[in-house]
Amino acid sequence: MPITLSVIKADIGGYVGHSESHPDVLARAEECLAKVKKAGLLVDYHVTKCGDDLQLIMTHQQGEENEKIHKLAWDTFVDCTEVAKKLKLHGAGQDLLADAFSGNVKGMGPGVAEMEFEEREAETVIIFMADKTSSGAWNMPLYKMFADPFNTIGLVIASNMHAGFTFEVHDVKESKKVFFESPEEIYDMLVFIGAPSRFMVKAIYHRPSKEIAAVSSTQRLALIAGRYVGKDDPVCIVRSQGSFPAVGEVLEPFASPILVEGWMRGSHMGPLMPVSVIDSTPTRFDGPPRVIGLGFQLAEGKLVGPRDMFADKSFNLARHQANEMADLMRRHGPFEPHRLPLEEMEYTTMPEVMKKLEGRFTALD
Ligand code: F6R
Ligand code: MG
Ligand code: MG
Repeated sequence: MPITLSVIKADIGGYVGHSESHPDVLARAEECLAKVKKAGLLVDYHVTKCGDDLQLIMTHQQGEENEKIHKLAWDTFVDCTEVAKKLKLHGAGQDLLADAFSGNVKGMGPGVAEMEFEEREAETVIIFMADKTSSGAWNMPLYKMFADPFNTIGLVIASNMHAGFTFEVHDVKESKKVFFESPEEIYDMLVFIGAPSRFMVKAIYHRPSKEIAAVSSTQRLALIAGRYVGKDDPVCIVRSQGSFPAVGEVLEPFASPILVEGWMRGSHMGPLMPVSVIDSTPTRFDGPPRVIGLGFQLAEGKLVGPRDMFADKSFNLARHQANEMADLMRRHGPFEPHRLPLEEMEYTTMPEVMKKLEGRFTALD
């Protein structure tokens, strides 16, 4: 039976500030989804949070982009916003950019990653969720998992992976997509995905079988709303084991923290720190950016788990390194490369300051 795994998320209010989610909000989401599971629309679900983002992980048999499932997520966010408003949480309802649901949550604020597949005899999936960053943050980790033999030895020594993977890359500014075959087109692909604020890895497919291997959310809130409304704080689903990278190969990219955009006011670069769910509490300078990874085995769509993958001690050094990198970046204060280039900043006073200084700029000799 084909099963669909949908991860739909939204920031509907932070506690305290933008640093964490309130337990009452999570409890309300749990109630909403329990009711729907009982009624039979969902096979299973798991509610969690990453920082100030409410995460709905759901399995069902309705397929991708299904109106009933998207409406369920939207209604849950609306219900939870009521709780957030009562508690006067910060930015209650901030990611719900539309007044009413209209068929699909895409383009309405929430982030979505969904994949439909035939469940394998053992179906291992890992769901990554990040706070204080944007979808391009998955580009390098996904490249390493599915295209870099220094990360994924299976690409070299496992015959079911040796033919490589197909990458679907989206240009979120021009609303275009392109497919690259790895390994032979990786140099071409890196020209694009090395610029993660514009080009984002949307999905990855196993070449011989065409099976879906990974999918990410690529909604850019600022592009949807035309103004700053919060960072995208993306999610990503990765299938693992067998003809996909092993769990250890899927997690390995996060052992070497990289710099991503989205820290403080969505306008700074900072290290992406792998943490357990309880440690997804971006606090220092509203960060540094966090990533959590929940692992499940699926059994007829039932979510067996989660295992909190980054709770493992072997990620302690990565966390330590990320904190060192955070210090190094903070040293730059309002200067690049900590602060993002002018056109990428989510907050700016540039137009008003320019207006104030009108007439004070004169031509160079
Ligand atoms: C939110 C974020 C935060 C906020 C900052 C200001 O995801 O990154 O750094 O941008 O706390 O928030 P507001 O404008 O809501 O007071
Ligand atoms: Mg927030
Ligand atoms: Mg957030």
